[in-house]
Amino acid sequence: MPEAPARLTEIRGEGEAAIEAAGSAAELEELRVRYLGRKAELTQMLRSIGELPPQQRGPVGKGANEVKRALEGLLDSRTSALAASELDERLRTDAIDVTLPGDPPAAPGHLHLITETRREIEDVFLGLGFSVAEGPEVEFDYYNFTALNHPPDHPARMLADTFYFTDEVLLRTHTSPMQVRAMEETEPPIYIIVPGKVYRRDSDATHTPMFHQVEGLAVDDDITLGDLQGVLLEFARAIFGAERDIRLRPHYFPFTEPSVEVDVSCFACNGTGTLDRGARCNLCKGSGWIEILGSGMVDPNVLGFVAHNGYDPERVQGFAFGMGIERIAMLRHGVPDLRLFFENDVRFLEQFGR
Ligand code: PHE
Repeated sequence: MPEAPARLTEIRGEGEAAIEAAGSAAELEELRVRYLGRKAELTQMLRSIGELPPQQRGPVGKGANEVKRALEGLLDSRTSALAASELDERLRTDAIDVTLPGDPPAAPGHLHLITETRREIEDVFLGLGFSVAEGPEVEFDYYNFTALNHPPDHPARMLADTFYFTDEVLLRTHTSPMQVRAMEETEPPIYIIVPGKVYRRDSDATHTPMFHQVEGLAVDDDITLGDLQGVLLEFARAIFGAERDIRLRPHYFPFTEPSVEVDVSCFACNGTGTLDRGARCNLCKGSGWIEILGSGMVDPNVLGFVAHNGYDPERVQGFAFGMGIERIAMLRHGVPDLRLFFENDVRFLEQFGR
């Protein structure tokens, strides 16, 4: 192969030109394979040196090795030069201008409508001299039912209505168990409200398995149903407007006697049941009244469970009430479905709490 040295010069020239022209690490890798890989012409020449006439082996082998080293060296230096300039470029474009103002702060969140409503209710009663107490959501059957004078066969005690952990431990079905807990802790007089979560085995447009209540309890000398009425009238006006009235309807709860349900005069039709153009008011269904809570005078049997702490039913008496926070919020804001509160759809939530 007398032409071998000439071919080597060609390979070297072509290879060097291609390597100089390459603009990326990937291109350089391709060239490395093309000129120095297993199937490269140069590699084949080196491999078949043994087939040459003996006097050519020395010069061709030496020449081929020289070309190989030259191309390798050039590939290596071009590769590192390219890496360095890519790094320079990245440093230049990724540079942070620390003199620019920071990102605008994310829009702050806001209170959930239930939290906002709870706080408004608390504010009303704080203004009337009540303090806020909280109690456990996992409760003993004793506080949830027994000490609240629930007969053994009361439907609320049934498995179908209440979440039980054991026969004696359950998720409280109302905030009323705090009545007896608070009276065990504090001698009379006592004026408290108890906001919190409660649980029932219910689920539809107007019932969720968890919801919120606010309990109220006032026990002192000479508390009467008139005091209850005055407190609740004040509450109704603070929440539903200064024009509101309330009415008490006889009802039944195991732990109050007498028991009453309390209605507020409708704020959509001003208690008339009829809208401006004579149409029936939808909110109160034409009755002029909207039910807002249950209440009554604390049953002497309940006081009997805490008589040892000064709650002698012969000496003190009191009233209690319980309302659903969701119900109050739905009425005030025209929320059509209770489940909206807990689906966490921001399109709903962001309309409130600003
Ligand atoms: N605990 C009752 C309920 O959840 C409400 C209530 C509270 C009634 C206090 C009377 C007195 O339905």
